Amino acid sequence: MIGVFDSGVGGLTVLTQIRQRVPDAALLYVADQAYSPYGDLSEAQVFERSRLITQWLIGQGCAVIVIACNTATAIAIDQLRSLFSIPIVGVEPGVKPAALSSRTGKVAILATENTLASQRYRRLMAGFLPNVTVLNQACSGLADAIEFRPTEIPALLDKYTSAFEAEGVDQVVLGCTHYPLIIEELKRVLPAAINIVDTSDAIAQEVARRAAPLLLTKDAVTVSLRTTAKPQEMERMIKRYSSLAWLQGIPAASLNLGNPE
Ligand code: DGL
Repeated sequence: MIGVFDSGVGGLTVLTQIRQRVPDAALLYVADQAYSPYGDLSEAQVFERSRLITQWLIGQGCAVIVIACNTATAIAIDQLRSLFSIPIVGVEPGVKPAALSSRTGKVAILATENTLASQRYRRLMAGFLPNVTVLNQACSGLADAIEFRPTEIPALLDKYTSAFEAEGVDQVVLGCTHYPLIIEELKRVLPAAINIVDTSDAIAQEVARRAAPLLLTKDAVTVSLRTTAKPQEMERMIKRYSSLAWLQGIPAASLNLGNPE
């Protein structure tokens, strides 16, 4: 079984790709909606939530863990890998593919403030293609709007992307797993010449590579959904986004993992 988690429904974009790439694996997904958005938590809180969820998923029999959240990966993956011995796959903004495809040499990264401020992200950027300029655009409130207040999405997208054309940006990287849920809205506000970089399929390929040798048990091929908030809320959000239609009808169950410090 593959365990996947995020602060909320964003990581379901990664789960969707994993389902395509590893159709014969059982999947167990945790949305930590009671503590969402992780972009607003302290680093210590994000780490503690990630540790609790990882421990729970391993206790349920997961052989591979996927942190389907850029913020939690940036803050917690190194420590989690030292605490737990099973493979842990994370996500990170696709800066490299964007930089390699850029013709203008200007690339914009959309991510949470916590991701952009993390040491891991700074390491990713260090020594990076000196001829490429990276615009780090923190999208405060955007994951939260996608999760709970969709009417705020258009104004936030406008605010965070309106300078890109004048700046000569030709690649926009989705550095938060919530953002692929609104890719159509994003395409509408961005000029057609700007390419959107989404690495969720690349992550799923990595999961398939890591998971294949570990999934030889005869688990039933089920998809199970857990949320730390109200299950009806999670089901309602799944209905809102068409790319998650395949998950409709799967009941979400609640999961109580206690409070972080
Ligand atoms: N989906 C998340 C990410 O990839 C979390 C966003 C948030 O909870 O603030 O960063």
